[in-house]
Parts: sequence; C-alpha cells; structure tokens
Amino acid sequence: MTNYFDLHCHLLPDVDDGPATMADALALAQALVQQGFSTVVATPHYLEDFSQRYQAQIKQQYQLLCEALQEAGVPLHVVLGGEILLTPVLLDLAPQELPFIAGTKSLLLELPLYQALPSYTEQVLFQLQLQGCQPIIAHPERCQALQSDPASLQTLVQLGCLVQVNFTSLSGLYGKRVQRTAKQLLNDGMAHFLASDSHHVKQLQKANLQSLAKQYPLQLLLQENPKALLNNEPVKRMSQNRTPLAALKKLFRL
Ligand SMILES: [Fe+2]
Repeated sequence: MTNYFDLHCHLLPDVDDGPATMADALALAQALVQQGFSTVVATPHYLEDFSQRYQAQIKQQYQLLCEALQEAGVPLHVVLGGEILLTPVLLDLAPQELPFIAGTKSLLLELPLYQALPSYTEQVLFQLQLQGCQPIIAHPERCQALQSDPASLQTLVQLGCLVQVNFTSLSGLYGKRVQRTAKQLLNDGMAHFLASDSHHVKQLQKANLQSLAKQYPLQLLLQENPKALLNNEPVKRMSQNRTPLAALKKLFRL
C-alpha cells in the first residue's frame, strides 16, 4: 500500500483550469486515491491576482471540497497551496498574501513555458529566499528555455531552489521533448519531488506509476521528500543514475 503525496494538483472545483464542477473534482480525487495518494496539495494558479477576493474564493472552494470528500467517503487529505507565476510582483507582497504550501515557507513557482527565462528570474528567487521563502520550481521540463539549457536549472538549484518534475511528463503526456527532458533531469539527480499537476482524470490515466516505480525512486520523490517538506524538515537529494545504461541513454538522448 503506497502513501504518496502530490505537491502539485489543480483539484479545486471552479477556480482555475482544473475541474469545472464538484463532481469532476471528486472524480479526480478518487483517481488520485486509486493511484496510491493519501495527501494532495491543491495548487490553484496565481498569475497576477493575489487579491483577498481571489484568496477568499479559493478558501471557500477548498472548504466545500473537504466537506464533499468527507461526505463521499474519499480518503484523501487535502491541504492548500498555489502555483505562482514568478514575477517581481511577489517581492512587494506581504507574507500573508503569498500562497505558501500549507504550514510551510515553501512556494511552488512556475516559469514561462514558451519564452526565454525572464531577466529577473535569479534576482527574484534570491530575494524571496532572503525573505525566508523556500522556492520550488514547478515542472522545469516543460519550460523550453530549460529544455535547451539544463545548466540554467542547475544554477537555480545552486541558488537554493528545489525542483518538482511532473510524473505525467515522464509518461509522455506533453510529448517526446518534455518526456526526454524529464527523464534526463531524473537521471541527473536534479529532482526533489514528483507530482501530478493534474487538472482532470484523463491526465492521470496517462501515467503508470507502477511502471515508473521500476525505473525511478518514487518512494523518495512522491513520499519521503514531500512528506518532509510538509513537516518543515529537510528534503534529500537524489543520487545520480550513473549506470552504463543510463549513460548510454543520455548519450543518445533516449
Ligand atoms: Fe500546475
């Protein structure tokens, strides 16, 4: 029996591009339980709206979801966080305006997917850490700038960022290039967490965790590290996969 933690999931109904209805949200929650998840961080998008009104809407939908899960008997513990677009605006917000992952100082941050890394990226990440925040880079394998220049991600990790890769990327949900980058990041030991980033049931159905567990340390990336993060404990680094097969795969970009 697995006890996985999903740090990145668009589970709240009628908030962002996640489930439109409570029934859809419950179906996604049920699918997560079937995949072995016991705890999920609901991470609605924060693009530019950090207003009290938006956050109140999120909290209301979160309460309704928790009640509906209990009523339906779905054994899934849900806590609140957010997926935040990295911009300098974050530096002007008060701590209570930032959607930290429940009870922690961690922020799940996304970078633009189809553009060069913004010039302010390193500076904002550095300043956030000076303010006591722990940045987590969401799905770097989906960022074109990082696909063509993985060393940039290494720089962000050296700056103190943690890295979350989508396990759906490993399963090919976003195409071959994203899949190849995700595999390379894991083989290079560059990920601290895997997560679903699921918006609806169909995305989860693309992933076969049992198959991925034969190749990657899911126990560390879906259980030990996310659990440690939620408990405000240090997370572990992956060991690099230096087997001859991994080296050959890297050489031929398989
Ligand atoms: Fe997301």
